[in-house]
Amino acid sequence: MSVHEDIIKFGEESTVALVVTDPQRRVEYVNDAFTLLCGHEKREVLGKSPGELLQGPGTSPQAKTSIREALMNRTPFDAKILNYHKDSHSYIAGIYVVPFHDRFTGCDHFLALERELQDWDDELLDDHHFAKSLADIFCILVE
Ligand SMILES: Cc1cc2nc3c(=O)[nH]c(=O)nc-3n(C[C@H](O)[C@H](O)[C@H](O)COP(=O)(O)O)c2cc1C
Repeated sequence: MSVHEDIIKFGEESTVALVVTDPQRRVEYVNDAFTLLCGHEKREVLGKSPGELLQGPGTSPQAKTSIREALMNRTPFDAKILNYHKDSHSYIAGIYVVPFHDRFTGCDHFLALERELQDWDDELLDDHHFAKSLADIFCILVE
């Protein structure tokens, strides 16, 4: 596993869902909070694309396109998208994605913090735990 141990340590302690992918957007790591959010076990998601697991019939094609474009730009972005739990109920996922280069392992990754929103108008950063997790993860990435 090429994901930095400090990020895994953060993930194991976090109540906010965390997903790390390789540059091809294949999952390398998810934490327990991610499993709780979407119902998929870690072993079921490794090597897969988050979208392939979580998107479904009601997911907006425009939301997918704007996420794809933002990923190609390789700058941090946030997005709201309709996702599906493993038991097939849908939820609004608020995701904040950052591309980063791990200078210890020399690997490029994308990292996402994710949570369920109650409403499309909800602000991602309103959630105290989410905002704190974002600040903490940035500390790890710029260390
Ligand atoms: C780290 C990371 C986390 C992601 N998390 C989600 C997610 O929770 N829900 C979702 O619908 N798409 C998520 N995506 C985006 C999809 O996997 C996919 O890249 C997006 O739909 C654009 O892609 P397409 O090229 O598959 O159409 C994530 C992408 C990355 C890199």
